[in-house]
Amino acid sequence: MVFKMSGIVKRFGGLTALNHVDFEVADSEVMALVGDNGAGKSTLIKTMSGAHTPDEGEIRMLGEIVRFRSPQDAWQSGIATIYQELALAGKMTVVDNIFLGREIKRPRFGIPFLDLPAMRKRTAELLDQLDVHVPSIDSWVESMSGGQRQGVAIARALNMDARLIIMDEPTAALAVAEVRKVLDFVVRLRRQGKSVVLISHNIQDVFEVSDRISVMRHGRCIAVRETRKTTPQEIIGLITGAHEVRAAAS
Ligand SMILES: Nc1ncnc2c1ncn2[C@@H]1O[C@H](COP(=O)(O)OP(=O)(O)O)[C@@H](O)[C@H]1O
Ligand SMILES: [Mg+2]
Repeated sequence: MVFKMSGIVKRFGGLTALNHVDFEVADSEVMALVGDNGAGKSTLIKTMSGAHTPDEGEIRMLGEIVRFRSPQDAWQSGIATIYQELALAGKMTVVDNIFLGREIKRPRFGIPFLDLPAMRKRTAELLDQLDVHVPSIDSWVESMSGGQRQGVAIARALNMDARLIIMDEPTAALAVAEVRKVLDFVVRLRRQGKSVVLISHNIQDVFEVSDRISVMRHGRCIAVRETRKTTPQEIIGLITGAHEVRAAAS
């Protein structure tokens, strides 16, 4: 497993947001994470990405136990999270965003200078790998569409050598044609040997790109299914708890 958490508990005061959650992601796998509002999905990915520290439980990345104290720790272990708000700098170019904080430098007369040609070349390669089309790598990110920005955010994650990329509702605010594009990015990431955690309310999108589906309900991970061995009906039943009602009635 690339990633594995076991027995994770996260409390906020008297509320238990994560109640002994087990969750794993395999190599080159798209793992969808679904559940109703308040089920604990965002809390789970914040725990994976170092934004929250769990109260109990164990996290392993590539087999090693890790304890993230900050998002930087998670980055260093190869976990990149792309939040809905994306955290790109609007008034900066594509190249600047991809290299923000990781500029390529080359010493000249013993002084490190920014190696702009190298950064531009690498940006073009990354965008090409993902098939992201932007007006120009020198355009400001704020002038771009939601799908293009998702592409830039993913390119940045690839540039940071992420092994596991977490995407929280990446298609929620997009037009139909852009949704296609972002789902295509997800498939391309898997083809490059990356693992992806995809949070989505859109069951159709989930069935289109995921290998497995984890279902959260009331702070627990209640089911994991192989996508090709389940149905949207079963997943919706697990999300809403319809199966519990049936079990209680029989
Ligand atoms: N920072 C926080 N402080 C207090 N309660 C929180 C916090 N974050 C989430 N919660 C609570 O934890 C539960 C799970 O929330 P969340 O992880 O956002 O669910 P989801 O993303 O599945 O909608 C909810 O009851 C929510 O109100
Ligand atoms: Mg959420």
